[in-house]
Amino acid sequence: MTTTTTIPAKSSEQFGNRLVSGPEPLIRNISDTARWAAMYRARESDRPDAVFQDRLARRLAGCRGQEIDDAMPFSQRQAWAWVARTYLFDQFISKQVAQGVDMVVNLAAGLDARPYRMDLPAALKWVEVDLPELLSYKEDILRTEAPRCALERVALDLSNVTARRELFDQLGRKASKVLSLTEGILVYLSADEVIALAQDLGVPSSFQGWLIDLASPGLLRILQRHLQPKLDQASATLKFGPKEGPLFFAPHGWKPIEVRTLLKTAAHLKRLSFWMRLLAKLPESTGEQGSRPWGGVCLLARD
Ligand SMILES: C[S@@+](CC[C@H](N)C(=O)[O-])C[C@H]1O[C@@H](n2cnc3c(N)ncnc32)[C@H](O)[C@@H]1O
Repeated sequence: MTTTTTIPAKSSEQFGNRLVSGPEPLIRNISDTARWAAMYRARESDRPDAVFQDRLARRLAGCRGQEIDDAMPFSQRQAWAWVARTYLFDQFISKQVAQGVDMVVNLAAGLDARPYRMDLPAALKWVEVDLPELLSYKEDILRTEAPRCALERVALDLSNVTARRELFDQLGRKASKVLSLTEGILVYLSADEVIALAQDLGVPSSFQGWLIDLASPGLLRILQRHLQPKLDQASATLKFGPKEGPLFFAPHGWKPIEVRTLLKTAAHLKRLSFWMRLLAKLPESTGEQGSRPWGGVCLLARD
């Protein structure tokens, strides 16, 4: 059984980019990036050696997801990074749930289908938050599917700071150990927006963990060069790649406790070309990366 709550949008504060209206480009708005992300999961699931099986991904991505994917050859070549990201999020989530997390709050959940595909306890509370249009599209497609845990959806514009604080407060009272997820969304925020979110997530005492993906300034520049022209159509701007790396979060109440890099994970999963495999052999740190392209998944714990 899945319940959906809609919280009306009314905010002048910023959180990423808003839905836009006007003539229709391929990526119409920030929510279409969720269709694009679902295509990576669909393509990985087609492989005989898939590292995860998301049988709903292709349906969720739809024709538009396929068209976006076809128009992004650069990003198809980087499929290894998306697969490694999904794999690492899966691993961290499973471990955290085994260690007593009783609620997962997936912020900007998009078309993620983990509640339907992961081996999760039936009693686990899982809350997906995203914009109303995206969630109603998702719900239409998944209407006849049964999640494996107690899934709730909250239609909310996360840029509405008052509403998101209220939501975090309500959720925080319903659980004793909450893991928040922000997968594929922080890169669209400014540093100030990320700090404000970090502070809000740090208020309820039960919000103990936060799983994020992160780009270095060098990787951010590469993504901007290759992807920004397409994303411009959707008024979605790639902005966040802090020079401090995971330590960016420490002064804002969240200390990194485990950091895994996408490149080494993709090498382990055998998803790299020959040249990338050589690169993956180089030693690397998880701290400041400067101009070196680096992407990783980090588990943060409240300080
Ligand atoms: C790149 S997708 C990532 C989706 C998902 N986490 C994944 O990894 O597949 C970005 C998601 O952020 C959502 N989003 C963007 N701005 C938002 C906002 N202000 N409030 C709620 N959701 C938002 C979009 O609708 C979209 O689903």
